[in-house]
Amino acid sequence: MTDLLVRGGMIVTAGGVFPGDILVRGGRIAAVVQRAEEFPNWGTWVAGGAGEGMEHVRVLDATGLHVLPGLVDVHVHLRDPGLTHKEDFLSGTAAAAFGGVTTVLEMPNTLPPVATAALFAQKRERLAGRSYVDYGLYGVIDEANFPHLRELAEAGAIAFKLFLGPTTGDIRAPGWGRLQDVFALVAELGLPLVVHAEDRDVIEYAQAQVGEARDYRAFLATRPPFGELAATQTTCLLAQVSGARVHIAHVSLGDAVDLIREAKERGAPVTAETCPPYLFMTAEDCERLGPASKILPPIRERKDQERLWEGLHDGTLDLIATDHAPHLTEEKASKSWSAAPGGMIGLETMLPQLLTAVGEGRLTLPQLVEWTSTRPATIFGLAGRKGDIRPGLDADFVLVDLDAEWTLQPEHLHSKSKNSPLLGARLRGKVVHTIVRGHVVVENGKLGEPIGQWLPGACWTAGTGQPARIGG
Ligand code: DOR
Ligand code: ZN
Repeated sequence: MTDLLVRGGMIVTAGGVFPGDILVRGGRIAAVVQRAEEFPNWGTWVAGGAGEGMEHVRVLDATGLHVLPGLVDVHVHLRDPGLTHKEDFLSGTAAAAFGGVTTVLEMPNTLPPVATAALFAQKRERLAGRSYVDYGLYGVIDEANFPHLRELAEAGAIAFKLFLGPTTGDIRAPGWGRLQDVFALVAELGLPLVVHAEDRDVIEYAQAQVGEARDYRAFLATRPPFGELAATQTTCLLAQVSGARVHIAHVSLGDAVDLIREAKERGAPVTAETCPPYLFMTAEDCERLGPASKILPPIRERKDQERLWEGLHDGTLDLIATDHAPHLTEEKASKSWSAAPGGMIGLETMLPQLLTAVGEGRLTLPQLVEWTSTRPATIFGLAGRKGDIRPGLDADFVLVDLDAEWTLQPEHLHSKSKNSPLLGARLRGKVVHTIVRGHVVVENGKLGEPIGQWLPGACWTAGTGQPARIGG
């Protein structure tokens, strides 16, 4: 594999922004040098020894661009197998690559849901060679598969997903009694447990009361705050008593941020995420946009949005993930808020949307990297490979033009779903190149080869019965 030199850009990490060049060897970062007045010349550096054999180096000119660690999106639904009319691994990971996302962790509510080691192995085999970015795969926790959780971990699940409330696939959770055993086992296995924290009983009761939801207010009444708060609180409590490392998915409510803050203060091993729709949209937008904007949990009020931003800034919320959840336009076109499926795409818009917000002063570039790359990699056990720009890590980068202003059009989207509330929006900040382990997978709008590799979780045994921890 040719070596790569990313030269002339501004490097962004969670620690800061500096002018620098990056040398990539064998898919990993070999060296990072800061360009300084007295050290302006790459050739000088090469002569210093670090660049022996430089004739085989491809130089990527990053002049005028910012070089960020590739994004690590811990919450994506790519629908493969079983729902490939909505998305498949090639289309979904192409979308990731165009969005600067170089690692995706893919949810288990595919068909069949990933509930056993055999199903995990089938999915893994099916996806081999069909990804443009690196990927980890979740195992599901459903109401019956407790006996399969250890084997799922040993098959290489990156994390577990527990759906406490009804959503796509309608996977049911065990009751709280059994969940005590589940959390205890997950604590022993050591994998993260991602929880969709909305209580099914609260939702089903509310749905029966409301009946058909004909407008957004009625739909909101079917997913009441109490459902999210009760599930969040009980989940945090169970994390604390069991020691399981719990990650709360898609926090939508200001009051949920408070519960998570309190749980963290008590020492509960809890982390949490929110997603761009909750940070950039409010109930009024959904009233205007109609059921296409339905996501689960729902987009709430402006005061919630403000408290989510506060939660990110004070560290209560650890990261931002897309919850990329594609559905076809026809499916989303339903007039009924009850009937429309929940979910919207996000892989290709999260980074431009956050870069636009950087321009507006809502976050800094290092915070963007922290929340979309460094923290996600750390929480999901990938810190030795992903999430930063320093020697030894995988050479995963996204090169962005902060000044490019553009209008999002359907033809920009590589997902099978074009259901984005951002169509027609002006954005400032654009992905120019995306690099995965030294391979340029997007170069000036052109897609490369599907070189993405599977990332096993921390309990993977490779069938040997012995831990076969992620290697090179
Ligand atoms: O809106 C959502 N869509 N929320 C979820 O929790 C699941 C997702 C999906 O898979 O469609
Ligand atoms: Zn989801």
